[in-house]
Amino acid sequence: MKPLTITSRLEVYDSIDEVPQDVQDLMQQAIETRDAAYAPYSNFKVGAAIHLDNDEIVVGSNQENASYPSGLCAERTAVYFAGAKYPDTRILKIAISAKSMRHKVVSPVPPCGACRQALVEYEVKQDEPIELYFMGETGKVVKADSVKDLLPLVFDSTCL
Ligand code: THU
Repeated sequence: MKPLTITSRLEVYDSIDEVPQDVQDLMQQAIETRDAAYAPYSNFKVGAAIHLDNDEIVVGSNQENASYPSGLCAERTAVYFAGAKYPDTRILKIAISAKSMRHKVVSPVPPCGACRQALVEYEVKQDEPIELYFMGETGKVVKADSVKDLLPLVFDSTCL
């Protein structure tokens, strides 16, 4: 038996004011998009903004459904839109912000496992890492240099 140790290095910023200006602008778009999320069942709104290599920004928010599993998270709404509209353009960064209509979300909210899997597909496709920044409604912002930092032992096409 050989142990396998997995480590990830993330960066934690005390507030949105500490991240670079372009990321603040991207997060602002995530926040505006978040507030327009369609989340009548969970009352938990998430927004995502993606900065593409062609300088376009695409956004997504969670879209819920009375048939709960038919809804989709903000990150996948955004990344699938990016993939559909700009199939040959590299994804540089994604900013994510979450807000509950029931309480103040002061801790960073990371993308769910299914969204990590969806995002890493594009990282593998473009063979370049995607930077992630995520936060709650206020408070700290976490940065990951790559989706793989949030999803070690990634399942990708090489596994098939
Ligand atoms: N949600 C997201 O949009 N992104 C995530 O990464 C986690 C969860 C949404 C799905 C659902 O509409 C609501 O948040 C509560 O889970």
